[in-house]
Amino acid sequence: MKVLVSGGAGFIGSNVVETLETKGAKVVVLDDFSHAGYKNLLNLKAEVICADILDRDLYRKMPKFDAVIHEAAITDTTLPDERKMVMVNFEGFKNVFNFCAAKKIKLVYASSAGVYGNGPSPMKEDQSLEPHNIYAYSKYLCDRYAKAYALKSKIPLVVGLRYFNVYGPREHHKGSSASMIYQLYLQMKEGKRPRIFKYGEQKRDFIYVKDVARITVDALKLKKNAILNVGCGAARSFNEIISCLNKNMGKSLEPDYFDNPYAGVYQDFTCADSGLLKKNKLSAEFSLEKGIEDYIKNYLSANR
Ligand SMILES: NC(=O)c1ccc[n+]([C@@H]2O[C@H](COP(=O)([O-])OP(=O)(O)OC[C@H]3O[C@@H](n4cnc5c(N)ncnc54)[C@H](O)[C@@H]3O)[C@@H](O)[C@H]2O)c1
Repeated sequence: MKVLVSGGAGFIGSNVVETLETKGAKVVVLDDFSHAGYKNLLNLKAEVICADILDRDLYRKMPKFDAVIHEAAITDTTLPDERKMVMVNFEGFKNVFNFCAAKKIKLVYASSAGVYGNGPSPMKEDQSLEPHNIYAYSKYLCDRYAKAYALKSKIPLVVGLRYFNVYGPREHHKGSSASMIYQLYLQMKEGKRPRIFKYGEQKRDFIYVKDVARITVDALKLKKNAILNVGCGAARSFNEIISCLNKNMGKSLEPDYFDNPYAGVYQDFTCADSGLLKKNKLSAEFSLEKGIEDYIKNYLSANR
């Protein structure tokens, strides 16, 4: 199987590349390296095309693939530039979608739990969407486009995956948009008290990137178009994360609480309804405890 992974030099994309290669697939990474970490691709065999998904000429030169996994996007959810966000995340998505339609290639793409905003939880795929920032709106546009054109376009398969909060190896390049688990780990490693918004009881559905990569690749086997939540189906607090990190790092650092500057647009509670994911025989295997343990033991402590 030959697969094109856009955003393949990024966090989730490079984990997807690794999972595909483990399964014997031949992978081509399409990434403009605007927000990537080249180290993510060391030890992987994938061919690399350094290009922008907005470049329409690019697709004319592309060979045929069996599948495209589309991860490329602007992932800084605090970026205020609406034009840039919609251009890359939505127009870029449409270019990839149209390429798949023209060549009759399966498409799995990254959407986001951000589309639910502060809507009711557990969040179900068919509930009304309330994107609270331009990033979430750009993903909402992708889902709406996929729903409207998937059948008409004759693409063999279109699957949108609404990732919840992903953490794990290969996120070091993301800086302030890396997972809170990684950012708190870095603070605690320096011996500093972990800084979180008052009073740490905001809850999120955290999912380990190994689960996300496996689910993303397995989604290529679905028989029907779908939009699926990709979460564990459990909401865990930032206080719980800190106690998990303390346990795995052999520390006992107390949280340092501060006012949330994003109050009003911040998702205070996210939890995936993972029923549809499970119905499609896809589900997360790592609990928060197991995920953090694997991440620290096998990657962060081992400097991988
Ligand atoms: N990490 C999460 O928790 C999370 C949650 C929900 C959704 N997502 C989505 O998952 C996908 C992957 O996110 P990630 O966390 O790996 O982020 P990331 O920033 O590490 O990866 C994105 C990659 O896309 C590339 N890219 C950006 N603009 C591009 C362009 N115009 N042309 C080509 N390449 C471009 C970047 O260089 C980077 O390598 C994104 O679509 C993101 O919106 C992530």
